[in-house]
Amino acid sequence: MTTTVQDVAVSPWMRKDLLGLWELSADEIRLILQTAGSFREVSERSIKKVPALRGKTVVNLFFEPSTRTRTSFELAAKRLSADIINIAAQTSSLSKGETILDTVRNLEAFNVDIIVIRHQSAGVPHAIARKSAASVINAGDGSHEHPTQALLDMFTIQEKKGRIEGLNVSIIGDIAHSRVARSNVWGLTKLGAKVTLCGPPTLMPKHLDDWNTRVTFDVEEAIEGADVLMLLRIQHERQETTLVPSLREYRLRYGLNAERLARGKPDVLVMHPGPINRGVELDSSVADGPNSVILEQVTNGLAVRMAVLYLVAGQGRPPSIEEK
Ligand code: CP
Repeated sequence: MTTTVQDVAVSPWMRKDLLGLWELSADEIRLILQTAGSFREVSERSIKKVPALRGKTVVNLFFEPSTRTRTSFELAAKRLSADIINIAAQTSSLSKGETILDTVRNLEAFNVDIIVIRHQSAGVPHAIARKSAASVINAGDGSHEHPTQALLDMFTIQEKKGRIEGLNVSIIGDIAHSRVARSNVWGLTKLGAKVTLCGPPTLMPKHLDDWNTRVTFDVEEAIEGADVLMLLRIQHERQETTLVPSLREYRLRYGLNAERLARGKPDVLVMHPGPINRGVELDSSVADGPNSVILEQVTNGLAVRMAVLYLVAGQGRPPSIEEK
């Protein structure tokens, strides 16, 4: 019999921060997914608000552009009745030369409880977490990790397939520069999925010994037998040189179109963290087609981020419906 996330008894949340899935145990991941399941129901009520984080203050501190992550953390905080402040680096005193640490110290002077941070350099959220009394949530650090994206991806897979254990998940695209790929590999393999990585050799990480994944450079092989196809954008902003000859060639060799999709399992899930480059990694007919769960990923991101805010704020265990 297959074990689902809901079946597993989980221990309490003991961490101040959420920095990555590398350091989380399978049980901690299950606790977040289980808590998100409870919060998912809140978003379906006519009054979509609970008092769980009343009196807490959350700061969104974003050094890179974002649509989905920043918005869903803001909405998640509001649905939990927390106060939320949005700070974009370009319009803050960071643009006048203030260091990140001084910015954080000034935020702490307001007694903020949670700092959600996205930064272009790997490790910045970790450095802030070590210095700050506030809880820190990594909303994406360079090419390193994007834990809440992988958690919402896992939540969506669990919801659609009823399980994660034993599923074949193929991640296709710019693996080398993708924090989404890294977080998904750590999370999915801990929950027992079999992960295949596919992309041009120039976009594959050099050292994959401890990744516990299969690697192929042939997209047809990655599609065959997959239960989930996770497409990734080419991250030009993180490449120091041009690593693919042209987007047209990339599309021909690795893009997911209707013809390729038809060779896969009929019920394969098509996922993408966004933003999509339509006509490059994914044709519109597939992005908007019946196998696509891309917008459901965005919906589930809200429940997952409510769960993460709730847990790091010290609530520590999945809420019952009555408590909420
Ligand atoms: N998936 C993701 O992180 O999207 P944003 O860059 O819009 O937040």
